[in-house]
Amino acid sequence: MAEYIYLSNKDTLIIKPSKKSPLLLRLIALLFAVVCGVFFCSIRLKQMSIGSRIRFQPFQVLGRSYSEYGIKQIEISGENDTKQLEVPPVYHLTQIEVPGENDTKQFEFPPVHYPKPQTFNRTECAHNPVQYFAIISMQRSGSGWFETLLNSHMNVSSNGEIFSVMDRRQNVSSIIKTLDTVYNLDWFTSASKNECSAAVGFKWMLNQGLMQYHKEIVEYFNRRGVSVIFLFRRNLLRRLVSVLANSYDRYAKLLNGTHKSHVHSHQEAEALSRYKPAINSTLLIAELKEMELTAAKAFEYFNSTRHIVLYYEDLVKNRKKLKEVLEFLRLPQMKLKSRQVKIHRGTLSEHIQNWNDVKKTLNGTEYGSLLLADYRR
Ligand SMILES: *[C@@H]1O[C@H](CO)[C@@H](O)[C@H](O)[C@H]1NC(C)=O
Ligand SMILES: *[C@@H]1O[C@H](CO)[C@@H](O)[C@H](O)[C@H]1NC(C)=O
Ligand SMILES: *[C@@H]1O[C@H](CO)[C@@H](O)[C@H](O)[C@H]1NC(C)=O
Ligand SMILES: *[C@@H]1O[C@H](CO)[C@@H](O)[C@H](O)[C@H]1NC(C)=O
Ligand SMILES: *[C@@H]1O[C@H](CO)[C@@H](O)[C@H](O)[C@H]1NC(C)=O
Ligand SMILES: *[C@@H]1O[C@H](CO)[C@@H](O)[C@H](O)[C@H]1NC(C)=O
Ligand SMILES: *[C@@H]1O[C@H](CO)[C@@H](O)[C@H](O)[C@H]1NC(C)=O
Ligand SMILES: *[C@@H]1O[C@H](CO)[C@@H](O)[C@H](O)[C@H]1NC(C)=O
Ligand SMILES: *[C@@H]1O[C@H](CO)[C@@H](O)[C@H](O)[C@H]1NC(C)=O
Repeated sequence: MAEYIYLSNKDTLIIKPSKKSPLLLRLIALLFAVVCGVFFCSIRLKQMSIGSRIRFQPFQVLGRSYSEYGIKQIEISGENDTKQLEVPPVYHLTQIEVPGENDTKQFEFPPVHYPKPQTFNRTECAHNPVQYFAIISMQRSGSGWFETLLNSHMNVSSNGEIFSVMDRRQNVSSIIKTLDTVYNLDWFTSASKNECSAAVGFKWMLNQGLMQYHKEIVEYFNRRGVSVIFLFRRNLLRRLVSVLANSYDRYAKLLNGTHKSHVHSHQEAEALSRYKPAINSTLLIAELKEMELTAAKAFEYFNSTRHIVLYYEDLVKNRKKLKEVLEFLRLPQMKLKSRQVKIHRGTLSEHIQNWNDVKKTLNGTEYGSLLLADYRR
């Protein structure tokens, strides 16, 4: 099925009314231009809606505020003027230009890839297109769980946190070399589906060179047609609890020396959730602000890529979100499964040692809602 959109360069009509022409002629010319403009626009829109199943809503924003996500609109004060960051758009699609025939520009949503791996032959699946993606997230935001869900799809290879290894993000060239290998399907992990991958990617934490080299990375993503899946957590207080509870020492002690970044049994989850971290309330507000700012910056840096924004809480509450993700990646729909167990169930107050302290610190501030926001899985 061809899903291309052809745009002619001759969309623009230049009409130069002569000085001598009477008013009526000029009006007719104007009318003609308007009608033509509307005509071309409607044709173009029609082609877009037919040509792509992905919704094209470049500037549509969620009718919700950041605060619902635990991420509020943040004002970044420049010199004297403050500018407000936008709520991230849901499906922000970038038009990617593919060299077409001479004067015809050809667009695809999203671009289609047929990688030719050096290490194996795609054999029977050589004619299946492959989507490139990257999950952009922060530690303890449910990305591990999300990735196991994705990898339960027979055509998804999400290769984990490949940039946790310093060598691969030492400089831009090592980053690009790594990306090339991954997207050429020449990267092997337990998640690789080899021949029949229809979507290949990995997860990338904000503190793994992503923010540092954002310019070059955005350029790469847009040039090679890599789609971005933002995955963040609305309740940043819960994230903080998770970060503190998951420090290596804590894990080592509670699980008798075996460190795991994910937990697969309810006994282990119980052992871990028994530990209640104390939160330094002096630094709390500053830490929450810092997290928000980092997330907002990531949205800003990567806003020109084709992307989808997900929140952990939404995925937990509403499995239909996963359908949207598969649609976004143009994958056949399938039921996705994960064996991971959530560690911190129940209300937040059960998981923080100095709950009263924390409550007092946040109540009445812009973060007061984090105390209340709760959910079950
Ligand atoms: C900001 O305000 C200060 C004092 O009002 C002024 O001196 C300065 O030039 C302003 N800076 C800019 C970039 O407008
Ligand atoms: C594109 O240009 C080349 C050389 O200029 C020409 O041979 C070819 O026929 C053109 N293709 C189309 C579709 O116009
Ligand atoms: C892939 O197949 C081609 C021919 O179909 C063969 O020449 C090539 O050696 C194969 N490559 C690998 C890595 O198996
Ligand atoms: C980039 O990092 C890699 C791996 O650490 C190193 O081998 C390479 O020399 C570096 N390249 C540049 C241009 O610094
Ligand atoms: C998914 O994988 C199966 C088997 O591995 C393969 O038959 C199928 O063609 C793949 N689907 C896509 C869309 O690549
Ligand atoms: C760790 O070891 C202690 C005693 O050796 C035991 O009571 C506890 O259940 C163990 N914890 C886990 C998670 O296996
Ligand atoms: C909280 O952090 C501040 C600043 O680092 C420190 O001075 C203070 O002692 C800490 N409080 C607790 C209870 O650890
Ligand atoms: C991305 O964000 C920057 C900075 O806020 C803004 O200048 C730019 O217009 C945005 N780009 C898009 C495509 O929204
Ligand atoms: C916040 O403080 C107000 C009074 O100052 C109190 O009525 C309210 O219950 C407090 N909220 C929480 C969540 O503790």
